[in-house]
Amino acid sequence: MAGMSPALRAHARAKVNLSLEVVGRRDDGYHDLVSVMQTLSLADTLTIEEAAELTFYCSDSELDTSDNLVVRAARLLRSRCNVSRGCSMYLQKEIPASAGLGGGSSDAAAALAALNTFWNAGATCSDLCAMAEELGSDVPFFLYGGTSLVRGRGEKVTRLRDPRPAWYVLANPGVPARTADVFSALSPDEWTSGEATLAMAMSISGDGRSTLLGVNGLEPSLFRINREAKECFDLVSSLASGRAIVAGSGPTVVAGSDTEESAMEIARLLTGRVPWVRVARSHSPAPGELPCA
Ligand code: C5P
Repeated sequence: MAGMSPALRAHARAKVNLSLEVVGRRDDGYHDLVSVMQTLSLADTLTIEEAAELTFYCSDSELDTSDNLVVRAARLLRSRCNVSRGCSMYLQKEIPASAGLGGGSSDAAAALAALNTFWNAGATCSDLCAMAEELGSDVPFFLYGGTSLVRGRGEKVTRLRDPRPAWYVLANPGVPARTADVFSALSPDEWTSGEATLAMAMSISGDGRSTLLGVNGLEPSLFRINREAKECFDLVSSLASGRAIVAGSGPTVVAGSDTEESAMEIARLLTGRVPWVRVARSHSPAPGELPCA
């Protein structure tokens, strides 16, 4: 048919926070953060096809709803860019929900970027960032991807040089953590200056070598409200020479490794003891793969 756009398939990658500090609370109730974020090979897949109306299907029935962030992203882009076309969207989930891995936020960013292309909507990187920020604090980062320094509520993103490739063991205890609950359990005396995370960002920019894990200022509050996350953290730490960190607001626990073999070995030891275990590689977007990369 004339004017039909070919189907488009986009990856929505998971992230880990290699370091995350909460530095204060803002007048709007959100918190100011300093974080180094890293996209991973683990990804959901969003497939977009021509259709008269806006329709959405998801492989996970619990997420197959009309208020899914993917649908909200599509509606937002459509109204901001005066698009009158529809599309059918299918989201194949691989990233667990409410896990700290940014799945929902990444899906939303992938929808914005892919539909901007599919509909030829003409939004610039900065237009897309403004829409991303409205959809959620972590969404702007996913328009950049790779290794990025993220500040403010999450909207100030600076792409860093790619560090050496690394492998990450991801262990999810299977008891979801609501981000809002983790932030509200945090006490102001647990805020930090952000310096440890900025130092990590500098060292990544400087020599491109760092695969180290930094700090996560949300761990104390998460562990107070989610016992399973603390148990999972202790288990992963014990298998990974004491080096583990919670991803974002959790409850997924991350261990890093320079080699795939040692990551696989830790994952093997965790299998059967934690409900969901994966090994993922760090991922840097190719030029043009993401709208702001
Ligand atoms: O922005 P998003 O909807 O993902 O945030 C979910 C919740 O996490 C917010 O309602 C807020 O309670 C908390 N949050 C925060 N500061 C941030 C990001 C999230 O307090 N920078």
